Amino acid sequence: MSKKALAIYYSQSGQLKDIIDNFCQPLIETGISVEKVEITLQNEHILPWTADGFFSVMPDCVLGVPADINPFVLKETSYDLIILGYQAWFLSPSIPFNSFVHHPSVQQVLKNTPVITITGARNMWVNAYKGVKNILKESGAKLAGNISLVDKNLNLVSIVTIFHWMLHNKKDKYLNIFPKPGVSDEDIANTGIFGRIAIPYIEKNEWGGLQAALMDKNAMDLKYHLIFIESKAGVMFKAWAKIISKKQNKTAWLTAFKYYLLISLFIAAPIVYVIDQLFFKPFLHKYIRKQKESILNLN
Ligand SMILES: Cc1cc2nc3c(=O)[nH]c(=O)nc-3n(C[C@H](O)[C@H](O)[C@H](O)COP(=O)(O)O)c2cc1C
Repeated sequence: MSKKALAIYYSQSGQLKDIIDNFCQPLIETGISVEKVEITLQNEHILPWTADGFFSVMPDCVLGVPADINPFVLKETSYDLIILGYQAWFLSPSIPFNSFVHHPSVQQVLKNTPVITITGARNMWVNAYKGVKNILKESGAKLAGNISLVDKNLNLVSIVTIFHWMLHNKKDKYLNIFPKPGVSDEDIANTGIFGRIAIPYIEKNEWGGLQAALMDKNAMDLKYHLIFIESKAGVMFKAWAKIISKKQNKTAWLTAFKYYLLISLFIAAPIVYVIDQLFFKPFLHKYIRKQKESILNLN
């Protein structure tokens, strides 16, 4: 009997949908039955975002507050593999992901089932991935591998281009000077490589070694300076989210957070980066290796 896989995801712009489609194509071509479920929200965040709308979702993202999703049906009660698409929003699992992954039907099929997680992020996905790992652990799922596709341009460049994309709904070259935002078309098209790698594992139902095989094809781009910035920013975001969520009038606080974030991204992060490269990184090889190992660890 053919193996059954479920690919479940949310995608606002269609980027993660394309990534998941390309990942699944080789599985479908070898005869694996792939059920795809695209989740939508009852109050959809329509692209383009307004600047205020974009920042307003920060507290719920960071604090893991779910939103209502439109009804969906899973055809099976169990699967041989679940392919789970997630986004990082404010260094946390996105609200749509957090909402569908906790849905009782998804929780039921996740239990004891091998899972491959896939994200298409700007470049700061590690904190969100840690959150996803925790959710999967609580769900009793068996994480078998993770693929993180990112915008490979310089951090500051990708900040400018993602705002152009999100606030204008244009995935094109801003001012004809900047590169296209998001995961490159080439990397999206090449996601099938990872799908092909996964096929023997799903056929044998033996998952040991999959993550190493995916990493041979650069399934995750682990850049120490981004991991470092994320680890510091994640703590600050949590503090802001807790304060803002308790306020009656959130508008002024969200505006303050917006300016805090812009100053952090464009001024503080580059300074911290230079200080770290000069004074800390040269002496932290063991620590950096441990950090990367902990990200690669599936447990
Ligand atoms: C509100 C919001 C916050 C985001 N925060 C992050 C982030 O912290 N780190 C990151 O790498 N990408 C971030 N992104 C980019 C998303 O992870 C994702 O790449 C982009 O939204 C495209 O996904 P889609 O397939 O849902 O359209 C954010 C996007 C949105 C809309």
